[in-house]
Amino acid sequence: MLNASSHHLASLPAEHVRFIEGIITRHGPELHEHGAMTRWFDRTAEYVREGRIARAAVAEFWREVTHACFPDTMQGHVVRKPHGYAGDFEIIDRIYLNHVSEDENVRRWDEYFHAQHAPRAVRNRKSYLHDWLHRKLAQTEKRPLRLLNIGSGPARDVREWCEQHEGPQPVHFDCVDMDAKAIAHGQALCAAWPEAVRFTQANSLRFTTEHRYDLVWSAGLFDYLSDGLFVRLLKRLMRLLDADGELVIGNFGTENPTRFLMETWIEWVLLHRSEQELARLAEISGLDGRSVHVDSEVEGVNLFLHARL
Ligand SMILES: C[S@@+](CC[C@H](N)C(=O)[O-])C[C@H]1O[C@@H](n2cnc3c(N)ncnc32)[C@H](O)[C@@H]1O
Repeated sequence: MLNASSHHLASLPAEHVRFIEGIITRHGPELHEHGAMTRWFDRTAEYVREGRIARAAVAEFWREVTHACFPDTMQGHVVRKPHGYAGDFEIIDRIYLNHVSEDENVRRWDEYFHAQHAPRAVRNRKSYLHDWLHRKLAQTEKRPLRLLNIGSGPARDVREWCEQHEGPQPVHFDCVDMDAKAIAHGQALCAAWPEAVRFTQANSLRFTTEHRYDLVWSAGLFDYLSDGLFVRLLKRLMRLLDADGELVIGNFGTENPTRFLMETWIEWVLLHRSEQELARLAEISGLDGRSVHVDSEVEGVNLFLHARL
């Protein structure tokens, strides 16, 4: 199988191909090989830029090998898309939980996956949200603060926040997700706080409500939206904010060292946007530049657009 798939890499130097075949034959990179493996991707990216191989051929190589050799890994889940789309609640939750297969023959692939900048940035979303909520609570006496969570996915971030707060919850969450299975997963995780956490299955582009919110949060959704849909959804969400409310939208930034690896190893394609592009889309959405700023989590990979009315 491996030999058959390697024909996709036939235009690359034999030594370069032998390296990756060796890693695959040995069931994935050991910890001390992570650097060499990443350099392999970096060198392959250069070959793509030089026109020596098509990006699609690299992706095809990995797709075939992943399906055949390690479908039950983090990368296998992303490639197989069992829920029909990339970035489903299950893979995001596995990223949060640092899920590693117990199968010795595939464990190393999961460890390599989790070591990358992009999954680290995803994990940082939780603390970014929690830190923002702490800051917001410190600025007001109002309790509870009402938060609208768009594209809530596994709701692991919500659960961990609630677990950290005994007694009356200081923040109430209205979680919206399009995927019924994501909603069921989130409901199960947050079942202990029925007053504070509610779920609605809806497409956020059509979602309407009578409520107005102190906070609107959406991470891991806008980087799948074209500029047109980005602006449309941002405008809709701004209308759901209270006068002194704040909205935060996450979007992977253009400085993502894992980008080529994501796009070829696992074909997880996001619309990466720079700080300037996010500010420009906010402006197109009718927001005053003075009420907008862009920040990032500590990895510097996941950017966050903050906006007020
Ligand atoms: C990558 S996950 C992010 C989950 C969560 N926000 C997080 O950061 O952990 C994206 C979620 O958005 C949901 N989603 C995608 N398009 C949507 C839409 N148009 N309306 C509502 N939810 C959507 C998906 O079902 C998925 O659960």
